[in-house]
Amino acid sequence: MEFIPQMEPLFGSEEKEALSRYMDEGGWLTEFRNTAEFEKRIADYTGSRYCFVVNNGTISLTLMAIAAGIKAGDQVIVPNFTMIATPNSVKMFGAEPVFVDVERETLCMDIECARKAITPKTRAIFIVTANGRYPKAGIEAFQKLCDDNGLILLEDSAQSLGSWYPNGKHQGAFSLAGSFSFSAPKVISTGQGGAIITNDDDMAYKLKRLKDFGRSGGGNDVHDTIGYNFKFTELQAVIGNEQMKKLPWRVERKKEILTLYKKLLKDVTAVSFFDQDLSITTPWFIDTFVEDREKLQQYLKENQVGTRIMYPPINKQVAYNVPGEHPVSNMVGQKGLWLPSAVQLTDEQIKHICSAIVAFYSK
Ligand SMILES: Cc1ncc(COP(=O)(O)O)c(C=O)c1O
Repeated sequence: MEFIPQMEPLFGSEEKEALSRYMDEGGWLTEFRNTAEFEKRIADYTGSRYCFVVNNGTISLTLMAIAAGIKAGDQVIVPNFTMIATPNSVKMFGAEPVFVDVERETLCMDIECARKAITPKTRAIFIVTANGRYPKAGIEAFQKLCDDNGLILLEDSAQSLGSWYPNGKHQGAFSLAGSFSFSAPKVISTGQGGAIITNDDDMAYKLKRLKDFGRSGGGNDVHDTIGYNFKFTELQAVIGNEQMKKLPWRVERKKEILTLYKKLLKDVTAVSFFDQDLSITTPWFIDTFVEDREKLQQYLKENQVGTRIMYPPINKQVAYNVPGEHPVSNMVGQKGLWLPSAVQLTDEQIKHICSAIVAFYSK
């Protein structure tokens, strides 16, 4: 058996042929019709009025926060278990991320922890729909918490393409705005890339200008606001459009992969999964809590299986080093392990991985 990486993107002949066609047409590579098509595909899929794509899923968070009116010195409540891009995206312009713990069952923000963290300086809550899951309390409860306290709710749904809330809204499409990432390991990839979706006209107006130097429109160098250059490229959009066509298959296969893992590991008490409702959500990565994590990782590596340690608690990362004990995110730091999760994993590979895990715990 060849080495099974924890993750690898999947691009096919469709992407290659579409790129080749595009190059034959002599485009400028800068964002144009293919980008507009990609934005429309994401807006349609997520049921949003507007979608703006940008160069990555960190900048999309930053732009979304700036457009929403978050400013330097404001506090933004974020989960202590997330990719570090979530807090960094607001730190970038001088806002202060405030870390709160997540729920054991979903690894999404714990609403009671969020409630306790609100101060007069709090401006927003950034919810992260971890691996396509949503908080047990419900996204509506977070909206109410924000409304009651005059806060802005925003969704970091980087990992959630193909995942909905029980109320029928696509993740990222519930609050003022939501953000996605198309980095290499994501549900679909354009190499790098991010998107912001919103139904709000004012947000859309601001986002469009923020990503294009604050241009008033039409490519003219007339600027009524400050903006930057966070534009996309047609090359990425051409790939993104092909990836979007295959999204329904990718979503289904991700669900099958988790179902097979759960079936094959159901008797292994040392491995546990999180609460993932596969009727409406799509597992991006196979996330688990495992006993003896480092030894298991080593054993799996010797058996040609790649794994990845889940995000350590952010407040304890040297980059932040903020005091506080957050038991669930601490537990992720000790037990969280991502198993191989690529959409192209075969059933045979999953059986091999699970047999190795069973063998490890039977020793
Ligand atoms: C929850 C979350 N937010 C933000 C990001 C950042 O996205 P990007 O890598 O496209 O900047 C990621 C990517 O891993 C993520 O998982």
